[in-house]
Amino acid sequence: MPAGGFSVSAPAGVEFEAKITPIVIISCIMAATGGLMFGYDVGISGGVTSMDDFLIEFFPTVYRKKHEDKESNYCKYDNQGLQLFTSSLYLAGLTATFFASYTTRNLGRRLTMLIAGVFFIIGVIFNGAAQNLAMLIVGRILLGCGVGFANQAVPLFLSEIAPTRIRGGLNILFQLNVTIGILFANLINYGTSKIHPWGWRLSLSLAGIPALLLTLGALFVTDTPNSLIERGHLEEGKRVLKKIRGTENVDPEFNEIVEASRIAHEVKHPFRNLLLRRNRPQLVIAVLLQIFQQFTGINAIMFYAPVLFNTLGFKSDASLYSAVITGAVNVLSTLVSVYSVDKVGRRLLLLEAGVQMFFSQAIIAVILGIKVTDHSDNLSHGWAIIVVVLVCTFVSSFAWSWGPLGWLIPSETFPLETRSAGQSVTVCVNLLFTFVIAQAFLSMLCHMKYGIFAFFSGWVLIMSVFVLFLLPETKNVPIEEMTERVWKQHWFWKRFVDDDEHTLNGDAEKNGVNLS
Ligand code: BGC
Repeated sequence: MPAGGFSVSAPAGVEFEAKITPIVIISCIMAATGGLMFGYDVGISGGVTSMDDFLIEFFPTVYRKKHEDKESNYCKYDNQGLQLFTSSLYLAGLTATFFASYTTRNLGRRLTMLIAGVFFIIGVIFNGAAQNLAMLIVGRILLGCGVGFANQAVPLFLSEIAPTRIRGGLNILFQLNVTIGILFANLINYGTSKIHPWGWRLSLSLAGIPALLLTLGALFVTDTPNSLIERGHLEEGKRVLKKIRGTENVDPEFNEIVEASRIAHEVKHPFRNLLLRRNRPQLVIAVLLQIFQQFTGINAIMFYAPVLFNTLGFKSDASLYSAVITGAVNVLSTLVSVYSVDKVGRRLLLLEAGVQMFFSQAIIAVILGIKVTDHSDNLSHGWAIIVVVLVCTFVSSFAWSWGPLGWLIPSETFPLETRSAGQSVTVCVNLLFTFVIAQAFLSMLCHMKYGIFAFFSGWVLIMSVFVLFLLPETKNVPIEEMTERVWKQHWFWKRFVDDDEHTLNGDAEKNGVNLS
């Protein structure tokens, strides 16, 4: 790998000529459906698993436990099978990312999105028509494959098709759509819970709408110029570039993509390259950000809010509409991030949110510790409202910090040559830890009781200290200048990048061999 591999872009600060053309707008709609689909899957299972009709049909033991007085409040829903219904999606998703990394590179972004759409549609059919637990789980696994393919291809597709000046905004737009998907799912659960006995089927089947939209979208859009050029279709790549940028003057950008793809081709083993010492800072940060994002405990709320509120003694209806409230707070607060991320910066958002998340969770732990014993009756109305407000305080701070930034920061820090492999690792680690939370939360709630919130607040403390000392600010730094302007300047991370500089030539090969 030549040392020049670090900066393959046009000279710093040069913007390529680009209009916001209809095709770019269609891309935004694509992002919406990919994100909506992911969010819908995240949000739908909690509400469904709190519905009695669903439990009677698939989890009769949980149904009996839920209505038995002798069961501890905290343990009503502790059932591995029930958790598997939620978590199997993420397990399948993380496995699929590895295939998705291959298909995005070799078949293109568009075809990968199409594959995702087809997985989604078949998964929705299995879920909506489920006659037994096996069909239900197979459906979730297929949806998970869809998530694995979509979450790899859609963000890449977007960042390649977007003009530079709206790239960051588009990235968070994806997260915004995830939150809208979650909110939709909560609203739909609220409505369908009143339809007996098949409301849950409707909840699961309505995922077909974003799935169909994504599939149709993938059929009609063109692949990105970067992907076409990477696969050797130079002429077509240039033609598409002119079309999406709305100008004939695309040579500078075209040349940059050709150069970038030449360098990308030199990297024989992108994943092995990722392990080189000089890529360590980005890799460590991408992996830790995903682990931290999930250990904020957000998905304990997103997946299980209705179940959680029910545990605290809310009636079914109140549980579901409380979940709608937290879902709405999630969407609105994400807008705060879209607006402020390039103004106040990533670090400030993460640090402020750290304080807010820590206190809201710690106070929830104290209130539950005092008020919800194993067999106590419901939380009184006043206390219940305070808990919902605290959950909202927690969700809002997550939504303007760890939610979008957990995805944004890894996507902007990797150098081009490892960006796509870095994206796979990011998605994979994220889904792995999402799986862990999905599979373990209800059991942890049963064993740790209110302490679960103290546990998550402890993690928030650790991640905030990490941000304070080890996360550099990446606001307003052009993507191809990160190494020079961020990593080489950082008090801690510079040792990895600097040391490597003079041994760079041929280093990749050498390390590659050592690592194999
Ligand atoms: C996370 C998801 C989470 C969602 C909540 C995303 O950034 O990756 O796991 O459910 O935010 O809004």
